[in-house]
Amino acid sequence: MDLKGIYTADTRRYDDSQALYNRCGKSGILLPKVSLGFWHNFGGNDSYERSRKITHFAFDHGINHFDLANNYGPPYGSAEETMGSLIKDDFRPYRDELFISTKAGYDMWEGPYGNWGSRKYLTASLDQSLKRMNLEYVDLFYSHRYDPDTPLEETLQAMADIVKQGKALYLGLSRWPLEALKFADKYLRERDVPLLIYQGRLNLLDRSPKEEGILDYCAEHGIGFISFSPLAQGLLTDRYLNGIPSDSRMAKEHFLKSKDLTPELLKKLKAWNEQAGKRNETLAEMALSWILSQKGVTSVLVGASSTEQLEKNMKCVHAEPFSSEM
Ligand SMILES: NC(=O)c1ccc[n+]([C@@H]2O[C@H](COP(=O)([O-])OP(=O)(O)OC[C@H]3O[C@@H](n4cnc5c(N)ncnc54)[C@H](OP(=O)(O)O)[C@@H]3O)[C@@H](O)[C@H]2O)c1
Repeated sequence: MDLKGIYTADTRRYDDSQALYNRCGKSGILLPKVSLGFWHNFGGNDSYERSRKITHFAFDHGINHFDLANNYGPPYGSAEETMGSLIKDDFRPYRDELFISTKAGYDMWEGPYGNWGSRKYLTASLDQSLKRMNLEYVDLFYSHRYDPDTPLEETLQAMADIVKQGKALYLGLSRWPLEALKFADKYLRERDVPLLIYQGRLNLLDRSPKEEGILDYCAEHGIGFISFSPLAQGLLTDRYLNGIPSDSRMAKEHFLKSKDLTPELLKKLKAWNEQAGKRNETLAEMALSWILSQKGVTSVLVGASSTEQLEKNMKCVHAEPFSSEM
């Protein structure tokens, strides 16, 4: 930023393009191998200046994909408001270089129409998201979770219509089971709005999308895959190897709980950390490089509470693939 507080992006931000991007399935879109998520650290209760610094750092290093959801905060909606301020303050001139996603699927407002997968909810939610983010369209709109009660045709047709109305350019699914993913893939393909990407939790500690066949399905059908919580919310870093820092996510005891850090888990993390040291890498770097080496993976969607964390995590794009039997 210059002395007047005006942000100008680093002119070298695409110098490392060859290493930085992966094609997203069989599509025209390249996504950064490391993307940035706004679930934590970008809400109304967080420092705007810190959120701004992290986002500038990301974009200055070629990370142009920012992932949001209607309910990210806290309070709900406030991470999107942060993005709206960033667009207004800094990123308007760079809008066409950004790939911004949002989602709807979890509880967002009171009453029967503020949750799950109805046409009513998805349409209203995206309209609200666009307002909060100061955007005319998002690049990617996700169904945030599978709804067992709403007919899949209703959810998917609403999503296809959202693209046809120009409110989103591409569609994605998050946390849908394999059979529903297959149905959605066929349904949307037949309506000429093919699924761009699937978002699921894949990391060294949770390999379910691989075990359940979701990764293989995506790879075989030209759908990209982006891994959320690739560091298991910070467990797969050096953050908790010597106790629980007071400024950490685990110290908040909400989404990541101290009871989950069992002696067995800590032993495993320490062994991986040692292995990473032998590779001249941090545990985070090694954990991310494992994900990126899995067939069909497009990107790891990290969170960060500082630019230093993001800087460390970005190194994984140059790391040797790590193959883990543990
Ligand atoms: N689709 C879904 O249902 C879903 C669910 C969850 C997340 N997501 C998406 O995935 C994104 C990432 O999720 P996540 O935040 O759980 O990801 P994560 O990358 O697994 O965890 C991020 C946290 O790990 C710690 N960390 C990161 N890098 C570090 C490093 N180098 N050294 C030490 N600590 C480090 C930080 O914790 P501290 O804050 O303690 O510093 C950071 O906030 C979200 O923002 C969201 O966009 C989607």
